[in-house]
Amino acid sequence: MQAQEKRANTAQLCKKVADGAMDNGADVEYFDLYSYDFKGCMSCFSCHLKKNFENPLCFWRDDLKEILKTCLNADAIVLGTPIYYGSISSYAQAFLERLLFAADTYLIDEDGNRVSKIKKEVKTAMIYTMNVPKEMDYFNGEDQLAIMRGYLSAIFGECEALYAYDTKQFKQYSAYVNNMFDAEHKEESEKIQFPKDLEKAYKLGQRISG
Ligand SMILES: Cc1cc2nc3c(=O)[nH]c(=O)nc-3n(C[C@H](O)[C@H](O)[C@H](O)COP(=O)(O)O)c2cc1C
Repeated sequence: MQAQEKRANTAQLCKKVADGAMDNGADVEYFDLYSYDFKGCMSCFSCHLKKNFENPLCFWRDDLKEILKTCLNADAIVLGTPIYYGSISSYAQAFLERLLFAADTYLIDEDGNRVSKIKKEVKTAMIYTMNVPKEMDYFNGEDQLAIMRGYLSAIFGECEALYAYDTKQFKQYSAYVNNMFDAEHKEESEKIQFPKDLEKAYKLGQRISG
């Protein structure tokens, strides 16, 4: 399970981001969300109690609690996710619900903007990996994925996106039921496109830690 995860496209890209940031001198903590047992937000509203206003924390006790504590104190947050049926994975969704709500409030300032508990600018980024080639314009200009990025920008700080298209999914395509994806094309994409995406991920890591 662990070894398989390490080969996966999303994990490789996230590790490149970490490399870029570490080479820039940043302290990096890397979490593989699939290794943890956690739920999405359960609407306990503890994070929205008046007594916790100064405290950007998620109070739900499961494996994610400590990870969120780290993220809510970080100077930058990067989340990688595969695209499943046109959306982010359920793990990424659950993580974001808890992260965002712990830092968010139901307060509006005089300019009409939601007040965030995060008082510094935290750079954020999302990395998306997917099977479809870029030419398919699958996301209708990619704005379908922009909702969570909008919240990340509003609550933490500028959120950039890295899209890795046309990923190679299987080591041996001939072993799987498939006539949608061409094995040779996928081999080529892995050799030509994916290294470019890894390079972009490395640069993202350098930028976001700068
Ligand atoms: C349940 C499931 C749904 C998927 N849905 C899509 C999809 O809607 N669009 C797409 O381009 N790829 C889709 N894929 C392919 C994955 O997004 C793609 O293979 C991605 O690179 C997987 O990430 P990984 O290599 O890190 O595991 C799907 C894969 C699975 C397992």
